[in-house]
Amino acid sequence: MSDKLIIFDTTLRDGEQSPGASMTRDEKVRIAKALERLKVDIIEAGFPAASPGDFESVQAVARAVKESTVCGLARALDKDIDQAGAALKDARRSRIHTFIATSPIHMQLKLRMEPDQVMEYAVAAVKRARNYTDDVEFSPEDAGRSEEDFLCRILEAVIAAGATTLNIPDTVGYAMPLPFGQRIRNLIERIPNADKAIFSVHCHNDLGLAVANSLSAVLNGARQVECTINGLGERAGNAALEEVVMAVRTRRDVFSCDTSIDTREIVTCSKLVSSITGFPVQPNKAIVGANAFAHESGIHQDGVLKHRETYEIMRAEDVGWSANRMVLGKHSGRNAFRSRMVELGVEFESEELLNVAFQRFKELADKKHDIFDEDLQALITEASLETEDERVKLVALKACAETGETPEARVTLKIDGEEATGHAKGCGVVDASFKAIELLVLSAATVQLYSVNSITSGTDAQGEVTVRLEKAGRIVNGQGADTDIVMASAKAYINAVNRLLAPHKRSHPQADNL
Ligand code: KIV
Ligand code: ZN
Repeated sequence: MSDKLIIFDTTLRDGEQSPGASMTRDEKVRIAKALERLKVDIIEAGFPAASPGDFESVQAVARAVKESTVCGLARALDKDIDQAGAALKDARRSRIHTFIATSPIHMQLKLRMEPDQVMEYAVAAVKRARNYTDDVEFSPEDAGRSEEDFLCRILEAVIAAGATTLNIPDTVGYAMPLPFGQRIRNLIERIPNADKAIFSVHCHNDLGLAVANSLSAVLNGARQVECTINGLGERAGNAALEEVVMAVRTRRDVFSCDTSIDTREIVTCSKLVSSITGFPVQPNKAIVGANAFAHESGIHQDGVLKHRETYEIMRAEDVGWSANRMVLGKHSGRNAFRSRMVELGVEFESEELLNVAFQRFKELADKKHDIFDEDLQALITEASLETEDERVKLVALKACAETGETPEARVTLKIDGEEATGHAKGCGVVDASFKAIELLVLSAATVQLYSVNSITSGTDAQGEVTVRLEKAGRIVNGQGADTDIVMASAKAYINAVNRLLAPHKRSHPQADNL
């Protein structure tokens, strides 16, 4: 059995299915470039049939990525497969990932199809996908609750039809590590042509077991794991890439395989995904949480000082914690700025756009002495948020807080080109600013989440704020960054309002009957 564990990243597809985590085309390209630096083997860039915007995003990622394979998701339908094939046309290496549900509950109640019909769709989809690429993956959706005999039959048939990877998804996060691993072993042993395909797993985290289930599958012969940065994904998310990769790397005594991941890129990639999607990383999150390598107890600190391995099983620098180094400063020139941006996956479409970004960089460098990669990423996120079709723009903000007085804020906005000013009091300056903005935009949305993270360390660090708004079942995340967190908060609220106001139409891969 191969000793290479293939890492299939689905941050841009399943990750984007987290409520409010939708990403623009350019944001997806930036994340894809970061995943490429991380040396991910396969990047699932999206579901091209979902909407013209999703198609364009997959196409843009396919054009930008040179080293990793770029994958597009397609239901087992001709039109989806043709869309995926077209979106991936320019990729150096492409994969089509097609799927159909195989559990009794999904076949009877969602698809309203007999198992034999499901088999026909699966085989036809794989054959059609092979017209576009030799690299075809098939997933029996809800495999965790599917009957093993039926899985054996359908998987044998799709391998014969040309599928090269068989992905076993625990779609609803129901599996337990031991039986799930045993199931993978059984499938590999029972399917006569199993040696012609690589077995993969795709685990959801509803019971907090996505990583454990994935690792159990690896111990039983799976050689591809589908995962996401920070464990982002539908509902409770997917298996976290960083946890799977570091478990396999740290416990070489247990696993007889390893990945090609450059682990020193993990933290940078995690911060980028968190900043673009607005999903903060909890401080105690394994590997990428701010406290993951912090020792609080005196006994632990003493032990680590005497000998690091007394309490540390991994080195912080091996996952990129020390990568937070100064890259540019006040005296850096336009060329240094441009070339660092290119390394971060940002290409300026015109000299004018470069000039605007460089001007912003200079303004930031005036306020903040050392500029880190994370600052540059936030600067680009900010600049690209402004180029979104924004109906509401922030013109001015004044916020006052004084001991013994009620905090208040005065906000001037431009709404559809018209300037208006609102004033409100609140229990803090952020609350007052949000109330003043709401008086003007009348979004009637509810704030589901407000979070502030400092992008780098030091009191001059930029604060990065996420505001999640909900209105009539639609959830959007807004982001803002500034060295002043009240300003960052107002920007984030306005960004979320703009996203709520933007037209929205895309289909969900798993929502339709097929
Ligand atoms: O969870 C799931 O079953 C999926 C499939 C499309 C692989 O995301
Ligand atoms: Zn999934």
